[in-house]
Amino acid sequence: MNYQWYPGHMTKAKRQMMEDIKLIDLVIELVDARVPYASRNPEINDLARNKARIILLNKVDLADESKTVKWQKYFEEEGFTVVKVNSKSGAGLKLIQGAIQESCKAKIERDKRRGIKNRPVRAMVVGIPNVGKSTFINSYAGKAATKTGNKPGVTKGKQWIRLNRSLELLDTPGILWPKFEDQKVGLHLAMIGSIKDDILNTEELALEVLMFFQSEYPGNLKKRYGIEESKKWVDMLSQIARVRQCLKKGEELDYVKAADIVLDDFRNGNLGRLTLEEP
Ligand code: G4P
Repeated sequence: MNYQWYPGHMTKAKRQMMEDIKLIDLVIELVDARVPYASRNPEINDLARNKARIILLNKVDLADESKTVKWQKYFEEEGFTVVKVNSKSGAGLKLIQGAIQESCKAKIERDKRRGIKNRPVRAMVVGIPNVGKSTFINSYAGKAATKTGNKPGVTKGKQWIRLNRSLELLDTPGILWPKFEDQKVGLHLAMIGSIKDDILNTEELALEVLMFFQSEYPGNLKKRYGIEESKKWVDMLSQIARVRQCLKKGEELDYVKAADIVLDDFRNGNLGRLTLEEP
């Protein structure tokens, strides 16, 4: 799914988040490991102040491992507990329980001092659209989890998923909005397919992808398409159109079709694991 944002959406998402955040102890913030900068909204720091927080670097299966390590270190230095996960396969999810305990130490201690025993940590998943929030909730909560209904004192209609004795998760994730003021953010989110391709048209986006691979991951385009890599991006797109037989009537090259192939391959990881940003 890609997403179209209007100011009204942002206001609504923010209002909802402000309401929900009152109910929880811990924010589980999902970030796309391919674009850890573009897929965050720093306003969460303000919205979630005084809450424990962990950052999940999601979709690590698609990201460049060496850059993921750098990003992990960067966020840890900022004071966050970080876990690298692939929500689709479930890899890394086992480490989350420990991270939750670690990041909620203060709350657990506080409860103890006040004589409150075994009050579960209440958590909420947040992130921009398409970052993998639903996938994560489904695979982490799994089938074993039981949904708990409305509880006294809790906002009507809120569903909690009880994961175990020490953790409850709000079943609807908090939606953060991307920071569109930054053009690079829009470009990166469009490249990975998280927002509509209307920032640039698909041909321009595909050229950005070709440019990026040719300079950052030389050899990957040659390996995938058998083309000669060069700084002439349009020329590379023509070569791809030719080898993939993207033709309009009258044998004219169909650049739009070739661009779609490049974008699909890029988004599905067929061009190799990549990360668009450095900390
Ligand atoms: P959201 O709730 O934050 O909006 O995101 P959602 O879970 O809908 O996930 C968006 C897309 O990202 C889905 O793909 C999902 O399968 C994929 N995804 C989520 N986590 C991971 C991950 O760790 N690795 C990979 N490779 N993909 C992940 P889709 O194309 O929309 O659906 P589908 O083709 O998987 O059915």
